Amino acid sequence: MMTTSIKCVGILTSGGDSPGMNAAIRAITRSAIYNEITVKGIYRGFRGLITGEIEEFQTQHVSNIVQRGGTILKTARCEPFKTPEGRKQAYDMLCKEKIDALVVIGGDGSLTGARILAQEFNFPIVGLPGTIDNDLYGTDVTIGYDTALNTIMECVDKIRDTASSHERLFFIEVMGREAGFLALNGAIASGAEAAIIPEISLQKDQLAEMIEFGFRKSKNSSIVLVAESDITGGAMGVAERVRREYPQFDVRVSILGHLQRGGSPTAQDRILATRMGVAAIDALLDDQRNVMIGIQNEMIVNVPFAKAIKKVKSVDTELLNTLWIVSR
Ligand code: F6P
Repeated sequence: MMTTSIKCVGILTSGGDSPGMNAAIRAITRSAIYNEITVKGIYRGFRGLITGEIEEFQTQHVSNIVQRGGTILKTARCEPFKTPEGRKQAYDMLCKEKIDALVVIGGDGSLTGARILAQEFNFPIVGLPGTIDNDLYGTDVTIGYDTALNTIMECVDKIRDTASSHERLFFIEVMGREAGFLALNGAIASGAEAAIIPEISLQKDQLAEMIEFGFRKSKNSSIVLVAESDITGGAMGVAERVRREYPQFDVRVSILGHLQRGGSPTAQDRILATRMGVAAIDALLDDQRNVMIGIQNEMIVNVPFAKAIKKVKSVDTELLNTLWIVSR
């Protein structure tokens, strides 16, 4: 056990929920209590911080949650927190509640908000990457990504049954905001014929080859995963083009939507969230400030907020090649 000036830590989840957030809340709470630090759960993200929806957590508050999807702390996207006045209210609430450090679990937008609050008031904050999108720089994976990937794989397996029975071409849209991690790795995991992702612009003839090749060979159906994004046009946009240009194909669209965010976290996400939760308290005890906990090559690392937020994590485009080879 270390000695620290931090006596009370607040935890909040913010932005889109992701499976494994509860495992992280549990680990942070238990690790803080182990280190004799008071823990306060802040409900509904930064909104609850502004309005004071705060409760002291004991170890039993986080019992029986490691296996649950969603977040027991609830979450929100908070417009007032984007203003200096809103952040001042949040800071005043931290002082009132005698919270002297914060752990924020969320994606890009939430960690950006956390960073600004930390800078404006010189307040210690540690972030945990909680998003199914996997789009944060400095960590190989984010909490929730593996579960979402598995959900996508199960859904595509099911759609394949009907695609094959009806000899149809399916465009399946997956989440990811502006990132193609879910689409690309989802396609590899489910044996899809192709993935259309925002990072790589697709030429018209590539799409043609992708589709025609799929049908030329013995296959009687094809599945293409499309990442949601204005750049890809989404599954609807792609399907419309294909219907116009290839009226001979029986095209269907399936948008997986928010079911990708739900469900019990996989073992990988539970372990990741637990390791990161304990590491967040370690980082605070170690006087680390304004860092996101990441994982690189199986090792826990502390990534400065500036890097995690500002730098762009690229998809491994070699994986597109892999998909191309194995789907032929
Ligand atoms: O960031 C997670 C995410 O699920 C994205 O993949 C998606 O674009 C977005 O959130 C959806 O947000 P909302 O739940 O607010 O519609």
